Amino acid sequence: MRDLVAETDVRPGQLVLPLFVREGLSEPAPIASMPGVVQHTRESMRKAVADAAALGLGGVMLFGVPEHKDAVGSGATDPDGVLSVAIADVVAEVGDALVVMSDLCLDEFTDHGHCGVLDAAGGVDNDTTLQRYADMALVHAEAGVHQVGPSGMMDGQVAAVRQALDGGGHSGAGIVAYAAKYASAFYGPFRDAVASSLVGDRRTYQQDPANVREALREVRADVAEGADVVLVKPALGYLDVVRAVREAVDVPVAAYNVSGEYAMVEAAAQRGWIDRERAILEVLIGIRRAGADIVFTYWAAEAAGLLAERG
Ligand code: PBG
Repeated sequence: MRDLVAETDVRPGQLVLPLFVREGLSEPAPIASMPGVVQHTRESMRKAVADAAALGLGGVMLFGVPEHKDAVGSGATDPDGVLSVAIADVVAEVGDALVVMSDLCLDEFTDHGHCGVLDAAGGVDNDTTLQRYADMALVHAEAGVHQVGPSGMMDGQVAAVRQALDGGGHSGAGIVAYAAKYASAFYGPFRDAVASSLVGDRRTYQQDPANVREALREVRADVAEGADVVLVKPALGYLDVVRAVREAVDVPVAAYNVSGEYAMVEAAAQRGWIDRERAILEVLIGIRRAGADIVFTYWAAEAAGLLAERG
């Protein structure tokens, strides 16, 4: 009876699995603050994506962790850089069995850990950064990525990336725009995952948790600039934002169930304070019910199994 009247569902095809690949690893390395998640080698990354495709997941979002970082994030636009080669590996492995997405941001590649290049005063230089993103988008597209995910919250980033892709003969490559990305404490474990060197915070370019109208303005700008999907992040503290975005635009809406949200459930479950599997499925249905068409979650592969078991 409950199935018959259920208003919301979660299917593996609606889930996107974020994955990390680290340069120079000889075997996968666990991430302490994200139990069950690893930094992959090129080889184990390829296998993880093949498994994701076999499970029927909708997509994967790839993050690269380079061995060397510098002020401008040179590794981000190196065709032989860790993320570029991982994209090519993965696309060769799965073709278009699922959507291969790549993080388009400099923070994993800069020695100061910011999402863009800095100006003389040490602030992030929005417009110089746009050129870096445009170059990075082309490198990813040449490697065969299906959708790039600009996640740095620079103004005008979607337009810059769209123009670069179209001008470079990659009009078929899509853009998942991190449109409403808040300056959040819940990215903490992710900074371990990508060995981030950030000092300070990202409050000059990410959004204030107090604001929702501002999120809608950011989202509308991204849609006008050519976003194919708009993403809200984090998810759980921002379900009202997901709902408001869903009602404001007609492109697909994604929500990112971030590292800190993952870690909270895992930590409570390890202490026996919460029923882990029920909590995972409840988190995912809650995000879907709020209006997300697509959910980015580190539990994507496991959830696909749980959903199959529970019919
Ligand atoms: C930026 C980026 C971040 C996350 C995804 N892309 C970190 C940040 O903005 O500080 C966080 C994801 C998570 O916490 O799970 N490249």
